[in-house]
Amino acid sequence: MNDKTALITGISGQDGFYLSELLLSEGYRLHGIRRRSGSFPSSRVEHRPGNHGTPGVDVHLHVGDLLDPIGLRRIISEAQPTEVYNLAAQSHVHASFEDPIYTAQVVAMGTLNLLEALRDYRDGTGREVRFYQASSSEMFGKAREAPQNERTPLRPRNPYACAKVHAFWQTVTYREAYNLFTCNGILYNHESPRRGENYVTRKITRAAARIKLGLQEHLYLGNLDARRDWGFAGDYVRAMWLMLRQDEPEDYVVATGQTHSVRELLDEAFGLLDLDWHDYVRSDPRYIRPTEPTLLCGDASKARTQLGWRPTVTFAELVRMMVEADLQAAERDRTLTEAGYTV
Ligand code: NAP
Ligand code: GDD
Repeated sequence: MNDKTALITGISGQDGFYLSELLLSEGYRLHGIRRRSGSFPSSRVEHRPGNHGTPGVDVHLHVGDLLDPIGLRRIISEAQPTEVYNLAAQSHVHASFEDPIYTAQVVAMGTLNLLEALRDYRDGTGREVRFYQASSSEMFGKAREAPQNERTPLRPRNPYACAKVHAFWQTVTYREAYNLFTCNGILYNHESPRRGENYVTRKITRAAARIKLGLQEHLYLGNLDARRDWGFAGDYVRAMWLMLRQDEPEDYVVATGQTHSVRELLDEAFGLLDLDWHDYVRSDPRYIRPTEPTLLCGDASKARTQLGWRPTVTFAELVRMMVEADLQAAERDRTLTEAGYTV
């Protein structure tokens, strides 16, 4: 058995993509869990390396769900992972107000299902497994201090964050009670051209590109004054991997330490295309959330000192990368539209 075998839940998501790339480049044998999809092949995994047996690319996709504890056990015993990265989640904060119970089931109970399966696997086989939990800055919610670090109290302000707090403490508990090697990465917002289209960065860069090419007239948004500590997803998955390389399992904040508002994001993205966003952006109360965190800004000193991690992509570079990718996608859409296809 390869002694570097990773299992990634949520492999079809943004972080799953970048983490797969990193682990493959580090010589890992890779297993991923994807949910069953009504359409085949699922558009979110079709392009993943190894899905079609690409020579030299060692990736095995398993159909599974965090809500199915028996299926998780089967996948773990098949994959025999040395490292497990739990990225799967209902990860949209606004959606969690609409579906709080489902969100809690996947994020909180799903993580517990996985931890229990790993504990039994380790106890049954004697094989050690290292575990990464995708914790979130949203857990700080109504923080009384900024920037936040590993010692900042957790004060979640939405159903998603409450569920992440549960998963966070279970991860700590399995470390302390059962001596499993488990780490929480408390990650601040990280984005990329692979970001889902309903998160604000991608919604804006995609709309700016489509407006530029005449494919869209307006962009409807919620709170423009919201601020976030935005970094590049490719940088953040490296921190996940580094956490599992340490001698002792610990929890780490991963962030840039700088915040920008949604307005600044609009300035940057539309500005790159010589557009004035005021001409296109409309307010839609449906995108306003019942609660927002106070100010999420991370202090990643511990990750910097202990992991040697630092972000390599600035806010301006991130927005440019996303706008350029969305412009290319919009050009493809325009070509198809002009040829009579519906996109
Ligand atoms: P994402 O793009 O939304 O990906 C989430 C993944 O979870 C998708 O692959 C999704 O599969 C899968 N999934 C959802 N429900 C599942 C279930 N019941 N069983 C198995 N898989 C399920 O999220 P991301 O941005 O890559 O984030 C990765 C993780 O980091 C998430 O846990 C998120 O909460 C956390 N996080 C993200 C950020 C950020 O800024 N991106 C910051 C802090 C923490 P489908 O493709 O089938 O939907
Ligand atoms: N999605 C969205 N859509 N957000 C909007 C909009 C809109 O039309 N208009 C304004 N916003 C504001 C939201 O109110 C929020 O304050 C901010 O933009 C960022 O929203 P999202 O991009 O949806 O991300 P998020 O910060 O709520 O959550 C992301 O980051 C968390 C880490 O801090 C997700 O990736 C979570 O999974 C992650 O844990």
